[in-house]
Amino acid sequence: MKRQWKIALDGPSGAGKSTLARALAKELGLIYVDTGALYRTIGLYMTRKGVDVKDADAVAARLPEVRLELVYKNGSQSVLLCGEDVGDSIRTPEMSLAASAVSAIPAVREFLLDIQRDMAAKGGVVMDGRDIGTVIMPDADAKLFLVASPAARAKRRYLELTAKGVECSFEQILMETNARDEADRQRNIAPAVPAEDALFLDNSDLNLTETVAEALNLIAQKCAGKARS
Ligand code: DC
Repeated sequence: MKRQWKIALDGPSGAGKSTLARALAKELGLIYVDTGALYRTIGLYMTRKGVDVKDADAVAARLPEVRLELVYKNGSQSVLLCGEDVGDSIRTPEMSLAASAVSAIPAVREFLLDIQRDMAAKGGVVMDGRDIGTVIMPDADAKLFLVASPAARAKRRYLELTAKGVECSFEQILMETNARDEADRQRNIAPAVPAEDALFLDNSDLNLTETVAEALNLIAQKCAGKARS
C-alpha cells in the first residue's frame, strides 16, 4: 500500500530541514520536494540576466520569461529552468543570497504558488520550506517545525566547512548565523512562522538518527489512522 501522506517541514535556515526531509522521504516512501530550490532557480535566472535581485519591479517584470519544472528520478529532485537542469549551480553562496532576496518579493512568491501547490495536491510528499504548513499545504497530515539553537547550527556549519578544508572560525560563523536569523526575522513577507497546528522539533542536542526517530514519532502520532491507499 502506498501512503499518500502530506508532510510539511518548516523552520529557519540551517536547522537541518533538507537532511531530515530527505531521510523522512526515504523512510516513508514519499517524494522529497525541496521548495528552496525554486527560489534559488529564480535567483539564478535573474543573476544570469543581469537583473538586480533586490529590485522587486525589475524581477517581477522578467518572471513571465521563467519556465520551471520539477522532475524526480530515483527519489532525487531536479529543477528544469526553461528546459535546462540547473544542477548544483543553485547551491553556491551567491545563489543563497540571491534566493533570499527574491524570496522577499511578493510577485515571486505568487509566481511559485502553483508549481508548489500542484506538487502538494498529488500527495505522497514531504515538502520543506518556510511557508509549507501555513500557505502551500495547510491541509498537511503532519506539520513539523524544526529548530536548533544558533550555537548548534553554527557548530554543524563549522564542522562541515573544516571537513572540506575551509579555514574558518567558530565565532565568525556564530556571528553570521545570528545576523542571518535577525535578517530573517525582520523581513515581513513569509518569515518562517510555525502553523498553529505545527509540532516543534528542537534538534540542538540530537544527532541525525535521533532527529529522524523523533520526527517519525511525531508523524506517527499525527497520522495515526490516516493511512491512505
Ligand atoms: O532552503 P533554502 O536555503 O534552499 O532556501 C533558499 C531561500 O529561499 C531562503 O532564503 C529561504 C527562501 N525560501 C522561502 O522563502 N520559502 C520557501 N518555501 C523556501 C525557501
